[in-house]
Amino acid sequence: MKTMISGIKPSGQLHLGSYIGAIREFVKYQQDYHILIFIANLHCITLPIEQEELRENLRDCIAFYLACGLDPEQATLFLQSDVKAHAQLGWILNCFTYTGELNRMTQYKDKVKDKNNLITGGLYTYPTLMAADILLYDADYVPVGEDQKQHVELTRDIAQRMNNRFGELFKVPDPLIPKVGARIMSLSNPEKKMSKSEHDLKGTIYLKDDPASIRKKIMSAKTDTLGAVHYDPENQPGISNLLTIYAALADKSLKETEEQFSGMQYGEFKKQVADCVVSTLEPIQKRYDAIIHSSYLHDVLQHGAQKVNQRALDKLNRVQSAVGLALE
Ligand code: AMP
Ligand code: TRP
Repeated sequence: MKTMISGIKPSGQLHLGSYIGAIREFVKYQQDYHILIFIANLHCITLPIEQEELRENLRDCIAFYLACGLDPEQATLFLQSDVKAHAQLGWILNCFTYTGELNRMTQYKDKVKDKNNLITGGLYTYPTLMAADILLYDADYVPVGEDQKQHVELTRDIAQRMNNRFGELFKVPDPLIPKVGARIMSLSNPEKKMSKSEHDLKGTIYLKDDPASIRKKIMSAKTDTLGAVHYDPENQPGISNLLTIYAALADKSLKETEEQFSGMQYGEFKKQVADCVVSTLEPIQKRYDAIIHSSYLHDVLQHGAQKVNQRALDKLNRVQSAVGLALE
């Protein structure tokens, strides 16, 4: 069975982009792959965050993983910092990654551009920790949204470089990007991706939003004056984003979805998209409410870390030895 690994960093509230681009994909794959899903809490402190907020986000993240349908019997769910080898391998990989490569990472460049961010060493070396997350487990595939593709490509480069020098140490992973929904955009500003870190309340549908706010946000989503429901991200980014959301949630192709709504008024189209989002999120929210305060969350994470710890440690020891860090 092939191995997959992915994670979400709990830096803010989960939203429809995290669900469509990531969590929903994880759930789809869990039966047919050996899938490891973790909460990237170490990545989360690369930008300032209050400890209370972080703690709350961790709890939310695991509760939503479960509420969205990840089954701890099939998928291994754990907290990144519980498996110490991640940070340790991250350090070693740092020493085999060039600053020129890190300087090219668009996520880093975007965060640097935002003058509100204080830039830490952690933010700069974020991609090497991500490479460690992946390479520790010899993952074949990494299911992620479009924005993370560059990081997976860097991971491949680091793996190949080290394999060339030290012999076959790592499997070279492939990113797995959803065909529909790899980049869900903000409803109020459809040129920008829906994101946890922007405080874009009108443009972001949080998984916790109640049906009335979801409907309100979708009904007031920015569109255009062309008056035709077409998939044309260039000229009709708002409408195209709503089509993408619907297609992803209804498991349909974009073409089918476009045909379904062709000729419809924007108001009616938005209403149907809103119905679809509400009916997807309502059952998830019910399950979330039932488990958010239970000790089950803790048990799931502990069990997950126990399952992967030894495997991660074996890999770390192999790398340490290959690099020359250990006595023969
Ligand atoms: P993050 O929330 O940044 O930790 O991202 C978690 C996962 O969700 C990654 O695989 C991202 O690529 C994916 N993701 C985040 N935002 C979006 C979005 N707006 N559309 C699609 N996928 C996304
Ligand atoms: N960087 C990813 C994000 O922002 C989260 C992440 C951390 C991740 N480590 C990973 C995703 C390893 C896949 C594999 O979404």
